[in-house]
Amino acid sequence: MAKAKTTVFFCKECGYESSKWLGQCPGCKEWNSFVEEPVQKNVKGKAVSAATFSGEIKNINDISVDEEDRTSTEFGELDRVLGGGIVKGSLMLVGGDPGIGKSTLLLQVCRNLSKSGKKVLYVSGEESLKQIKMRADRIGKFDDNMLLLCETNLATIEGAIRSTEPQIVVIDSIQTIYNEDVGSAPGSVSQVRESTNILMQIAKGMSISIFIVGHVTKEGVVAGPRVLEHMVDTVLYFEGDRHATYRILRGVKNRFGSTNEIGVFEMKSSGLEEVLNPSEFMLNGRPKESSGSVVSCTIEGTRPMMVEIQALVTKSNFGMARRTTAGMDYNRANLLMAVIEKRLNLHLADYDGYINMAGGIKVGEPAVDLAVVMAIVSSYKNRPIDDKTIVFGEVGLSGEVRAVNMAAARVAEAKKLGFETCVMPKVSMEGIDIPKGIKVIGVNNIREAVDII
Ligand code: TYD
Ligand code: MG
Repeated sequence: MAKAKTTVFFCKECGYESSKWLGQCPGCKEWNSFVEEPVQKNVKGKAVSAATFSGEIKNINDISVDEEDRTSTEFGELDRVLGGGIVKGSLMLVGGDPGIGKSTLLLQVCRNLSKSGKKVLYVSGEESLKQIKMRADRIGKFDDNMLLLCETNLATIEGAIRSTEPQIVVIDSIQTIYNEDVGSAPGSVSQVRESTNILMQIAKGMSISIFIVGHVTKEGVVAGPRVLEHMVDTVLYFEGDRHATYRILRGVKNRFGSTNEIGVFEMKSSGLEEVLNPSEFMLNGRPKESSGSVVSCTIEGTRPMMVEIQALVTKSNFGMARRTTAGMDYNRANLLMAVIEKRLNLHLADYDGYINMAGGIKVGEPAVDLAVVMAIVSSYKNRPIDDKTIVFGEVGLSGEVRAVNMAAARVAEAKKLGFETCVMPKVSMEGIDIPKGIKVIGVNNIREAVDII
């Protein structure tokens, strides 16, 4: 008789389950991401008949909601990403690369919440009490409502939550938490999932808001936060360039709000500080009168944000031209260079092209296309573009400049920051109010745009 299987394989990126090892995950297409873990023994529950059913079923119209079950974190940027504050009884996942500032952010949130009278429990499985205290001293003075616990055993943590009854709990790194009922090692897919499940029950059952920290991992057998995305209420990712000081908090999933919002923070020596005007911040240190630099406006969530796009086009020394991008899609940049080559008759084939979004920000929106084109052309011709001009618009394959959404907001932001000219798609100009003091030029295709600039 064949032996019953005692292990299964999980993708540590997305949690895909398979009975055998696979080189590439069919779920998320990641290579070499499968790890072996013991099978969970499923204890079969008793069937419920009509006579024994004791659950609570309600008519939707009979349920009343209290308006005020959101708590402000005192960080406007974070509140906006959360959809207006922390929802009571919700489970929130904060993911990000190690060292990006997740623990710092949550410690500061705890400080703000405890100051406003909330009871907060911060559970760390990574740092000792002394280490947390050292970090806390850099951030500032804490209130007495702030409790610390260094523990990795989930049962003990649950006990601590039940005995202290806090309103907010932070679990600093779910990957260190250990549940004795699960056979595999801490950080494995089944451990991380099972622990999150239990935390979810605690959050819903006791109406406590719980933050979970999850590290994004590149190697090893530690499960990444994506494994948990479907279980929690809200998923926030903290991102940013390690070498730059600003950090972006991005909502990826939110059961209680929009996911299009971002929050911008700056890492200072005394913790994170909100950046209230990201446009100004992004344009800091912009070169004057230099070719290949163009300012554009991208929409992050509901907010317009200025970005500086830089291009450097140089004669290639090898037969094959090199193209490199930072902060934008590589294929999109190649496509735009092909459009320039064909529609503007510029011979870029034997030129290397380097395109960079200054400040390390990533832009996915096609609305910056026209600015990328202008930056490339400016660098190729070695002619600087007026630094009081902003450019935006999507570029199509035949060189046409297509409409973008929220054009009015982009123009208004440009005006606010003192730009004097705005080059934008002609089709987007209909029906928007053009503020005084800024010249708006509509273009139909990239040739018109090049002629004007
Ligand atoms: P941390 O919150 O420990 O990152 P994570 O929990 O995401 O792994 O952040 C650590 C980094 O932040 C570290 O490189 C030092 C820096 N930092 C500051 O620059 N200023 C500060 O006040 C603090 C507390 C940390
Ligand atoms: Mg940490």
